Amino acid sequence: MTDTNAAFTPRVFSGIQPSGGLHLGNYLGAIKRFVDMQGEDFQTVYCMVDLHAITVWQNPTDLRKNTRELCAGFIAAGIDPEQSILINQSQVPEHAQLAWIFNCVARMGWMQRMTQWKDKAGKNTQNASLGLLAYPALMAADILIYHATHVPVGEDQKQHLELTRDIAIKFNHDYGVEFFPLTEPVIEGAATRVMSLRDGSKKMSKSDASDMSRINLTDDADAIAQKIRKARTDPEPLPETLDGLAERPEARNLVNIYAALAETTADAVIAEYGGQQFGTFKPALADLAVERLAPISTEMARLMGEQDEIDRILTRGAERAREITAPILKKTYDIVGMVPPAI
Ligand code: TYM
Repeated sequence: MTDTNAAFTPRVFSGIQPSGGLHLGNYLGAIKRFVDMQGEDFQTVYCMVDLHAITVWQNPTDLRKNTRELCAGFIAAGIDPEQSILINQSQVPEHAQLAWIFNCVARMGWMQRMTQWKDKAGKNTQNASLGLLAYPALMAADILIYHATHVPVGEDQKQHLELTRDIAIKFNHDYGVEFFPLTEPVIEGAATRVMSLRDGSKKMSKSDASDMSRINLTDDADAIAQKIRKARTDPEPLPETLDGLAERPEARNLVNIYAALAETTADAVIAEYGGQQFGTFKPALADLAVERLAPISTEMARLMGEQDEIDRILTRGAERAREITAPILKKTYDIVGMVPPAI
């Protein structure tokens, strides 16, 4: 933690959009690392960011289902709802309230520079929702309404976390306070950017048209093994050193996935499998992936049958979250100059 943050309780916040199709990238880049940070030296808050999801159209029935499914995914992967605070964003209104303040702190130019805005809005920016442009200010609010000091994410979120720091700096500067921490991104491990199984130059993503490009957390053991067996590779055996993967994105991706699932490094994987053919490596990776992922999909399916329990967990999570967020919002309003209710 930086000295700037020494005054703040070590607290982790991170979020995932409940827009359906949780995949191996979400698991290795985010959820698995959320589990690892739980109970270490941090208070941990994990969020289904439903307000973010609606920046592009979501069918309401699907959104409800996907939010509960994401909650089931968190728990099945090892998030303990007692140890961590597990919430859906819309039940903690302070996220959206602080986001409005940040909309007034952030500059249009900052938002327009975001690569996610450019990618998602495409050429027709006039037709994109205003929410899609403002999205990073809500994300900054998600984090800073907890005074979170650490945010574990995959590499694609790095730019948004830099913007979160810029918003905190500008707010603190404009109002002459040291109120918001400068949050540290935690982008670590072998799989901060899991690539498509069909094209090593593209990120694994729920929006890829080919289901063979990704492993979904709802896939059963057969589907997981089949997708790994069919993953695109080149004809060469695995190299003897890591440098040999530099120009081989598909091979590098599979090595990174193996390393992250086995909780080791890409170096260690190459030390074990260097010189071997994919005919040997892929079945080993498939076995490992099935061993690690199949129990998660089974448990997710079981939890999805217990909707009342999931809803209770989210209600309780929101109550606990608001014990943190309400005082921080109150203090923010005070700093900004809002007249509070008379006691
Ligand atoms: P989202 O929902 O797109 O992704 C959730 C998390 O999964 C990671 N991820 C990946 N990691 C490695 N390889 C991949 N192929 C891959 N695809 C996705 C993402 O980096 C992310 O960590 N804006 C965020 C949600 C958000 C948030 C927050 C995150 C809203 N508020 C506050 C942290 C803190 C998003 O759209 O993630």
